[in-house]
Amino acid sequence: MAPASVSPVRIGVIGGGMMGREVASVFGRWFALDKYPVPAALTAVCDLQPALLDWFRQVPGVTCLTSSHRELLARDDVDVVYLAVPHHLHEEIAFDVLRAGKDLLAEKPFGIDLAAARRIRDEAARLGRFVRVSSEFPFLPGALRAFEMARSGNLGRILEARCSFLHSSDLDPTKPANWKRQARFCGEAGVMNDLGLHVAHMPLRLGWKPLSVHAFLQRGYGERPDGRGGMTACDTWDNASLHCPAEIGGQSALLTLEMKRLAPTETNTWSFELLGTERGVRYSTKEPKTLWIYRRDKEQWWEKTDLGFSTQYKTITAGILEPGFSDTLMQMWAAYIAERAGLLGDKFGCATPDEAIAHHQWWAAALASNRERKVVAL
Ligand SMILES: NC(=O)c1ccc[n+]([C@@H]2O[C@H](COP(=O)([O-])OP(=O)(O)OC[C@H]3O[C@@H](n4cnc5c(N)ncnc54)[C@H](O)[C@@H]3O)[C@@H](O)[C@H]2O)c1
Repeated sequence: MAPASVSPVRIGVIGGGMMGREVASVFGRWFALDKYPVPAALTAVCDLQPALLDWFRQVPGVTCLTSSHRELLARDDVDVVYLAVPHHLHEEIAFDVLRAGKDLLAEKPFGIDLAAARRIRDEAARLGRFVRVSSEFPFLPGALRAFEMARSGNLGRILEARCSFLHSSDLDPTKPANWKRQARFCGEAGVMNDLGLHVAHMPLRLGWKPLSVHAFLQRGYGERPDGRGGMTACDTWDNASLHCPAEIGGQSALLTLEMKRLAPTETNTWSFELLGTERGVRYSTKEPKTLWIYRRDKEQWWEKTDLGFSTQYKTITAGILEPGFSDTLMQMWAAYIAERAGLLGDKFGCATPDEAIAHHQWWAAALASNRERKVVAL
């Protein structure tokens, strides 16, 4: 529970769809954070769909429900905006947010492409607003432990790293299309815009430098049900595999990045693996509390440990219990609010606008590599 004397950070959500509602659940149980220094509350929500606005009526503390993001931005009781709209709207609404004097936690990919991301970053810098980008999986305890091991430099000669985020629901051709399957809304980078920052956040924060990209991109079904009895065209890349010679910890190694909507048996599998000659580490949300550590001795071992609820910000949840998606989203928000208040210290922080720009550079190179069937230098 936060100290009662500090005034709460007031959050407005623009885009109350899947992610907007997840964020309502984070602030609905903010009190579960233990001795966390800053209170926070959801006060206002904007969405175009009346049924979604109705859903938010049950959320305590929300006093503004509107279909106009400008109305939300005109309010005094909003300090920070969480922007979770389709990608083609990121830039325009982010500019409105910043010019209204609000801070921003922007959903990835932070603009539909590299040029848009640069413009949002530059406007935020010009106006002096605090802006971070959403990527929550590195806040899972196993991911944080993998990050610390990767940063330690104690793994011997680094051989390779693999980072992936895999879904399988698009294998079903009867799944209706939505904006994420159409390039004019999702962006030319398709699945890389959709799942990419999740994969790129830790490598970027570790300072890994891909030197070039060789990409293989795949499309799935060319049309899907439109939800109104007809069919509609789908034209985004659905699977992306990138092979990148990279500089990792000052050494030359292979970095493989995979983002897939067509990965049989995977529901929402985020994973990170780093292998050196002496040690290695592997974490996957398939086993959410389990960390695997490789050790080379006389023999070679994968050692497995169950981590429990060892989150960066303590909560009332007992350490023996296992963390999930809503917990890691709350941890990301706790890092955002702490960093905004100058209280992050040496804890892991949210993705920055510069990191979002760097990830767009990787995807632009991947598009060129796939189009021209060649290796593209970065
Ligand atoms: N961090 C994550 O794990 C994660 C997961 C999924 C999606 N996302 C990102 O979140 C964002 C939204 O994705 P989603 O899955 O929630 O999509 P969604 O389609 O479920 O929700 C988007 C919402 O935006 C609303 N909207 C559209 N135009 C609007 C406008 N002008 N003003 C206000 N609201 C408007 C829509 O009505 C819809 O409810 C995207 O940037 C996406 O990449 C992040």
